[in-house]
Amino acid sequence: MTATPIPPTAARQVEFISLSHLNPSTELDPIPTRGIDLAYFRRYVRTLEEAGYDYTLLPYGSSSADSFVVASAVGQLTERLRPIVAVRPNTALPQVVAQQLATLDQLTEGRAVVHLISGGNDAEQARHGDYLPKARRYARTSEFIDILRRSWTETRPFDHAGEFFRFDGFGPGFRPYGDTIPISIGGQSDEAFQVGGRQADIFSFWGEPLADLRAEIERVHAIADAANRPRQRIWVTFRPIIDRTDELAWRKAYDYAARIGATFEAQTFGRQALMGKGTPQNRGSQRALEFASRSEVYDRALWTRTAAVTNAGGASTALVGTPETVAAAIVDYIDVGADLVSIRGYDTLADARDYGRHVLPLVRQELAHRAATGQRGTLQAEHPGALAPGFDADALAGVR
Ligand SMILES: Cc1cc2nc3c(=O)[nH]c(=O)nc-3n(C[C@H](O)[C@H](O)[C@H](O)COP(=O)(O)O)c2cc1C
Repeated sequence: MTATPIPPTAARQVEFISLSHLNPSTELDPIPTRGIDLAYFRRYVRTLEEAGYDYTLLPYGSSSADSFVVASAVGQLTERLRPIVAVRPNTALPQVVAQQLATLDQLTEGRAVVHLISGGNDAEQARHGDYLPKARRYARTSEFIDILRRSWTETRPFDHAGEFFRFDGFGPGFRPYGDTIPISIGGQSDEAFQVGGRQADIFSFWGEPLADLRAEIERVHAIADAANRPRQRIWVTFRPIIDRTDELAWRKAYDYAARIGATFEAQTFGRQALMGKGTPQNRGSQRALEFASRSEVYDRALWTRTAAVTNAGGASTALVGTPETVAAAIVDYIDVGADLVSIRGYDTLADARDYGRHVLPLVRQELAHRAATGQRGTLQAEHPGALAPGFDADALAGVR
């Protein structure tokens, strides 16, 4: 068997992300708490570090914990894990956020990353008094990024008179530990691409079919090229569902979708309850629902039912199969250009540990093999998942 060559779009390295959970409540088993379970949180972030993750996202919403305070705790509970702080530019002045990020970066000796959320839902933005329409919110994000970077690098006081922010004599600001702090953009609307393509270091997606993601990567990189900016690193997010055999994994996936759907209907789990049931306003969720309406299964392991039953109110598309199948699917995404892969399960803590034991090493081994030999390993050829002839998810799960 001759292996297919490594495609020119393939990333050479991968880093892993997982969102941090503050308590054991999940979409599978919601428990009525909105608080921090400190023992659980400590265990969770230490598990991420021990499992070999590189980053953890601290999400942000109007009723979430404060992402900066949590990120600071992550920094002190870990040695290596890099906190990614989700920040909405309507919530604080850019000079203040620059100070906060630089402080976090110093406290973690250079581990801070910021993920800018322009806001995907008008009602949610209004909870914090933000009444700008979405296109204007992205214009504000653009100005916000310029001020962040200036605040970290200017050596003298400076003035700013822009469309959204105005100040005089700020600076020199508090400096990061390193030269700068990576800036990531979340969002899939045209405005997100324009701002991300021109100004971001990282551009992020929820899990999409491979061909669609490749087209989107080309789109954001073309904007970067036209602006004469370095190309963004690409972040893609999945919710894997793994088990010892593909059959067990598909059975589990169908069970999970039923339970997650029931939680969504009951509106008992955090962010979903905030986003509601109508047509989502954010392009990322609209895209996820379009993919779900076209097909439930794509490529080797991508499954969209989990998005369909939650109105795609957050990262929700799954990768289903054995650890080998899911690792091979992750390598498929690396082949189209993903270099930051976020995997967070539905059984959050147990999954973080299991991915660390069974998935991350396989992906890293494949990339190490490629680096050493210039050729693909056998992982993708040996674990076809849904690419196998005659594959039928319903039959595997035992519902047909
Ligand atoms: C990886 C990733 C993480 C995200 N994290 C958050 C978050 O913590 N809080 C939030 O309100 N939105 C989050 N979002 C949602 C979008 O950033 C947000 O809805 C966007 O600003 C507007 O959507 P649009 O450009 O797709 O229309 C995230 C999106 C992605 C891709």
